[in-house]
Amino acid sequence: MREPSFFYIANWKMQLTFAKTVLFCKKNQNNFELLTQKKNTKIVLCPSFESLAFVNDFFKKSSLSVGAQTCSSYEKGAYSGQVAAQSLSDIGCKYCLVGHSERRNFCSETDDDVAKKVQQLLKNNIIPIVCVGELKKEREEKKTYEVIERQIRAACQAVKKFTKESKIFIAYEPVWSIGTGDIPSNQEITEILKYITSIAKAVLPKISLVLLYGGSVHEKNVKILKEICDLDGFLVGGASLDFQKFQKIVT
Ligand code: PGA
Repeated sequence: MREPSFFYIANWKMQLTFAKTVLFCKKNQNNFELLTQKKNTKIVLCPSFESLAFVNDFFKKSSLSVGAQTCSSYEKGAYSGQVAAQSLSDIGCKYCLVGHSERRNFCSETDDDVAKKVQQLLKNNIIPIVCVGELKKEREEKKTYEVIERQIRAACQAVKKFTKESKIFIAYEPVWSIGTGDIPSNQEITEILKYITSIAKAVLPKISLVLLYGGSVHEKNVKILKEICDLDGFLVGGASLDFQKFQKIVT
């Protein structure tokens, strides 16, 4: 069954300091709240760790939700600098990105790490938003499907070890598209989303998927992207930091 809501996940990355996050939220509070009132629309803001509790608290009267950008693959222990999924749950996080390409590339996050994080999140009732996608070189070498299959299998095997029925979000984010302005065609995205679904269902027939696209989504290309029928939402980076642009993407 398809999700009734269309999701807009704003990934603020490490673009705003805590003070700037507070200012951004205060400046746009009413408008954010108005956006959340749009029918069948779900907005999830993903600020960096230090701002999560503030953003969650600030918008607690609206239906806006908060998500983290990653979490530890461990439950607890001597892992300096890491943040446990349970702590995210304690402060009201409902979602968490996992395996974003910036984590895979700059922090050497592997499929195995992604799998462990997915399990930590499910244990703590946080919905994982698993990011998958090929590098430019992999696309040129025609390895897109191979890469995606590997990433999806790892995440879904992790879900399978935990539960037979679960909901996870999968964001197809071609790495060559993130922050570049280049996006795949609707047909390419449609085919990849179909492939993602077939791999996920092969591992876990009862899995429930929410399928997102991410990579250079902005107010000028969103109308065309919204024509993709199997899509349940977008993961938006750069354009989510400019409220006017984000508003145009949502409305
Ligand atoms: P972008 O980033 O929208 O700036 O391309 C997307 C992402 O990294 O999730």
